[in-house]
Amino acid sequence: MIEGHSAPSEIARQIYRDQFALINRYVDILRLTAVAWGLLGPRETDRLWDRHILNSAALSGLIAADSAVADVGSGAGLPGIPLAILRPDIRMTLIEPLLRRSTFLTQTVEELGITDHVTVVRSRAEDHQQSYDVVAARALAPLNRLIGWCNRLRAPDGVILALKGASTNDEILAANRELAVARLDAEVLIVRAHPEADPATVVRLRPRGANARAAQ
Ligand SMILES: C[S@@+](CC[C@H](N)C(=O)[O-])C[C@H]1O[C@@H](n2cnc3c(N)ncnc32)[C@H](O)[C@@H]1O
Repeated sequence: MIEGHSAPSEIARQIYRDQFALINRYVDILRLTAVAWGLLGPRETDRLWDRHILNSAALSGLIAADSAVADVGSGAGLPGIPLAILRPDIRMTLIEPLLRRSTFLTQTVEELGITDHVTVVRSRAEDHQQSYDVVAARALAPLNRLIGWCNRLRAPDGVILALKGASTNDEILAANRELAVARLDAEVLIVRAHPEADPATVVRLRPRGANARAAQ
C-alpha cells in the first residue's frame, strides 16, 4: 500500500457497502478452504483483496444492468463470485469442468446464500449449450484458444470480457486469425473497481462494427 492510499480491504468496503459482510465471508472462504483444497496458492492469502477481489470487481462497469453473465473457467469463483456479490441484478453462471473446483463452487455459493442469482455448471466451455450477454474469463487461456471456447457462448450482440495481464497486445496479434474467423473486434481497456484500486487490463471482444455503431 502506498502511503496516503487506502488499504484494498478499505477500498472494497467502500465499493461493496451493504454487501461488504458477504464479500468478507467469501475472502475468508478463499483464505481457509480454497487454499486448503489447493485451488489457490498459500502465497495468495496476503493479496486476496487487491489481486483477486478488486481485480474481479473492475469488470462491473462493463456489464449492463440485468445481464446474463458466464464466468468461464471460474476456478475458485473468480471473477464471477465477487461480481455477483457486487451486482445482485446480474444472473451469473460459473462454468468449471473440474469436479473438485465445481464442488467448491457449489458449496461456496450455498454458504454465501447467493443461489437465487448464481448457478454452478460443471462443464467444459466447449460442451455447454447456453448463450450469455457477457462471457467473462480470467486466467483461462491465451486469447486465440479463449475465443474458440467463449465465442460460441456469446449471444449475437453479446461481448466477451477477458481479464488479462502484461502480454495482452502480443496475445491479440497472435489471435488475428481467430478474431477474423469469429468476426470479432478486440479493444484493450484499462479499468478500475475504484479510483484508488490498481488498474485491471481487459480485452473486450465484440462483433465487428459494434464499436462504430456504439459511437454513432
Ligand atoms: C488458471 S485457472 C483460473 C481460475 C479463475 N478464473 C481465476 O482467475 O483464479 C483456469 C481454470 O479454467 C478451467 N478450464 C480449463 N479448461 C477449460 C475449458 N475448456 N472450459 C472451461 N473451463 C476450463 C480450469 O479447470 C481452471 O479452473
